[in-house]
Amino acid sequence: MDDFDNVIVSSGIEYGEWTQNAEKFLEERKFDNKKLAVFISSYYAGEEDLYDHAYENFLMKILNKYNHVKPVKIAAFGGRIPKKELPKIADQRLLGRIPEHQNDNRDWDKIEAWAHEVGKIFSED
Ligand SMILES: Cc1cc2nc3c(=O)[nH]c(=O)nc-3n(C[C@H](O)[C@H](O)[C@H](O)COP(=O)(O)O)c2cc1C
Repeated sequence: MDDFDNVIVSSGIEYGEWTQNAEKFLEERKFDNKKLAVFISSYYAGEEDLYDHAYENFLMKILNKYNHVKPVKIAAFGGRIPKKELPKIADQRLLGRIPEHQNDNRDWDKIEAWAHEVGKIFSED
């Protein structure tokens, strides 16, 4: 971490939670004097009517939990669930939204725009 001025931390969401390693990283690392950006990837965040739920519960809740985490930019993006993972998901609210052919609701324009904005902030003095 000493070698870096800028850090991006992200997690996929599983069963409403950050993955263990990603949350541990956010919790344990110090980001003093670094610019930090944080994003999540979650199927809910890619669905218009569930976006607010994902933003509040999967992103803001974690950021509010750790006082030392003060990102310069955040985002909640949609996700992609590999077909082989689908049978693992017991949550009917989630499964009901995923027809065979639509297991990917990422919005690449939104992701690219965010990445450019983060790049700009990271390269400012
Ligand atoms: C086992 C499993 C559980 C998941 N649970 C949720 C969930 O509770 N809410 C949600 O919005 N997305 C859920 N997803 C979808 C993931 O958030 C989505 O696939 C995301 O893109 C995963 O990111 P990753 O590929 O970086 O791990 C789940 C996916 C899997 C495989």
